Amino acid sequence: MIIHDHGARHVAIIMDGNGRWAKKRHLPRVAGHRAGVEAVRTIVRAAGDMGLEAMTLYAFSSENWKRPEEEVSDLMGLMKRFILSDLDEFAANDVRLKVIGNWRALAPDVVALIENALDRTAGNKRTTLAVALNYGAQDELVRAARAAAAEEGGITAETIEAHLDTTGLPPLDLLIRTSGEVRLSNFLLWQAAYAELYFTDRLWPDFTPADLQAALDHFARRERGFGGL
Ligand code: IPE
Ligand code: IPE
Ligand code: MG
Repeated sequence: MIIHDHGARHVAIIMDGNGRWAKKRHLPRVAGHRAGVEAVRTIVRAAGDMGLEAMTLYAFSSENWKRPEEEVSDLMGLMKRFILSDLDEFAANDVRLKVIGNWRALAPDVVALIENALDRTAGNKRTTLAVALNYGAQDELVRAARAAAAEEGGITAETIEAHLDTTGLPPLDLLIRTSGEVRLSNFLLWQAAYAELYFTDRLWPDFTPADLQAALDHFARRERGFGGL
């Protein structure tokens, strides 16, 4: 039994650098995305082993539609295959799937697959894997604010929070971005208010459980005062 004293419950990752990983190897971008899916598999398993309650992964942003049609369709294909092929693995590892973002606007076959996967994993308890699909934090906040405004209490921090896509997950502790870019790219803007931010040059397909452990070690050394002392 491993003792987990890093103290983090919820880690989010902006999985960036698939394209550069492929370019370095003179491969097409889709090869980078395929390698990225392998990294997802390994990291989700590690997240459970490291005692994390939730991991949120940025898989497709609301801005990624601007990419060439072929790349968008490659990414959607990989997503579908990932959900299909890993459902059994989620069951075996007690992983509950959650999807955040405007995923209901995706193609009907993807929506059906997601609904089935959510349903099949709803009772799993060890780790929640939240995948951000067609996700943009500004879009999430507009939707949450609209829903909050329609409620009796109106717009407050609490009612907005209650309508975020991430409601029900533990507060975000640590936000990691790979590939050396130092920006949030419209990811979890509200939830990141007091998260520790961790940037690494590692390209996403090269990100290993040891890198996740290094980020958690970094987190364990931070003192979070949440505005107090
Ligand atoms: C991240 O890798 C994956 C997605 C955005 C889906 P990129 O495709 O952005 O890789 P780079 O940034 O071009 O290297
Ligand atoms: C952020 O990466 C989105 C995902 C990782 C899914 P991008 O590569 O799309 O972000 P920018 O364009 O560099 O900001
Ligand atoms: Mg990128």
